[in-house]
Amino acid sequence: MRKALIVIPTYNEKGNIKSLIEEVFSVTKNLEIWSIEILIVDSHSPDGTAKIIKEIQKKYKEKIHLLETEKEGLGKAYFKGFEYALEKIKPYVIFEMDADWSHLPKYIPEFLKKIEEGADFVIGSRYTKGGSIPKNWGLDRKFFSILGNQVIRWGFMKPKITDWTSGYRAIKSWIIKDNLPSMKNRSGYVFQVAMLDKAIKKGAVIKQVPIHFKNRKEGESKINSLKYSIQTFSYVLTHSSFIKFVIVGFIGFIIDFSISFLLIEKANFPKNKYWLANTISGEIAIVSNFILNNFWSFSHKKIDNNLFTYLTKFLKFNLISAGSVIIQSLGVQIFTNIIGPQYWIAYKIGIIMFVIIPYSYVLYNKFIWKKK
Ligand code: GDD
Ligand code: MN
Repeated sequence: MRKALIVIPTYNEKGNIKSLIEEVFSVTKNLEIWSIEILIVDSHSPDGTAKIIKEIQKKYKEKIHLLETEKEGLGKAYFKGFEYALEKIKPYVIFEMDADWSHLPKYIPEFLKKIEEGADFVIGSRYTKGGSIPKNWGLDRKFFSILGNQVIRWGFMKPKITDWTSGYRAIKSWIIKDNLPSMKNRSGYVFQVAMLDKAIKKGAVIKQVPIHFKNRKEGESKINSLKYSIQTFSYVLTHSSFIKFVIVGFIGFIIDFSISFLLIEKANFPKNKYWLANTISGEIAIVSNFILNNFWSFSHKKIDNNLFTYLTKFLKFNLISAGSVIIQSLGVQIFTNIIGPQYWIAYKIGIIMFVIIPYSYVLYNKFIWKKK
């Protein structure tokens, strides 16, 4: 039998938790290769949630664990719960699940099926075919949730992952073990996004299960949407390879432009050597882009410490960059011939945004900074 542990953080959930636990055991009782245990992480709820847990522990015995922690936010509760689980319970899979009946236990077998089929990380998605959010959510909550997920999806260039903030997931223990040390200071709800981002960067196989997210049964939500949005947004800005890659490209543009300007205007390169000035500045920009991308944008896929691989990849990088230059010049020329010369700057910006950026990002990922 393989052990699956459902970690449920609770803060004032006395009206929900007992029926939820019973439902979890009831929908999983016929699973053949999985034995289910539950870990409640309660932050000293003033409403006496822990007392209820201690009561049902008498019925389910060692199947229910209780960890009592300080009230330091959802992320910290999960952090402590995971630490405890890895050390004391040693499950094969760990679930994250809310205590308020928003996450229906009936989906647990579907999550486990995906794990059996080879997934390392299964997300319960509200934003995929067959999933949903409650119709009566306020406009503000809908707005934050839907827009937030779009920003993360496209910021990380992972459109196939439709629900980044979902708090209903099943994760293989090895991923949690690998990521936990770097998660220590993520106390808020952004913990969810960070865990998924790190798993993807470790090469985890991600699968989704559509879920209908229900309104909480009893009590009230502890989420602070504005704080959550700000945390999430700054997480994406500082962790997205794609955004860093765009910034690096911009720095490269500035380097290229300033060095050619210096060589031509200040070092007085002769007219017939302008090509040389631009080759030098262009190549310096390429070297800088290559280094910045390797140690910053794609630092999780850094090139091996081997001179030969470095050189061949640098050569490929030059080829891809040369491709960009050719696409750009041809594109500007084609639009100029069709529409006229007066908008050449617009053509150039458009081509960079819609062709060069996606083209080079895809090729870099395919040929230079490949998944490990
Ligand atoms: N131990 C502990 N400590 N538990 C907490 C704390 C805390 O400080 N804060 C919240 N919880 C528990 C709640 O008791 C509940 O079981 C769960 O965490 C989710 O909290 P809610 O307050 O119900 O959050 P929500 O419904 O607004 O947010 C849900 O949806 C978000 C995306 O829309 C959660 O699933 C989030 O994880 C998710 O990001
Ligand atoms: Mn909730």
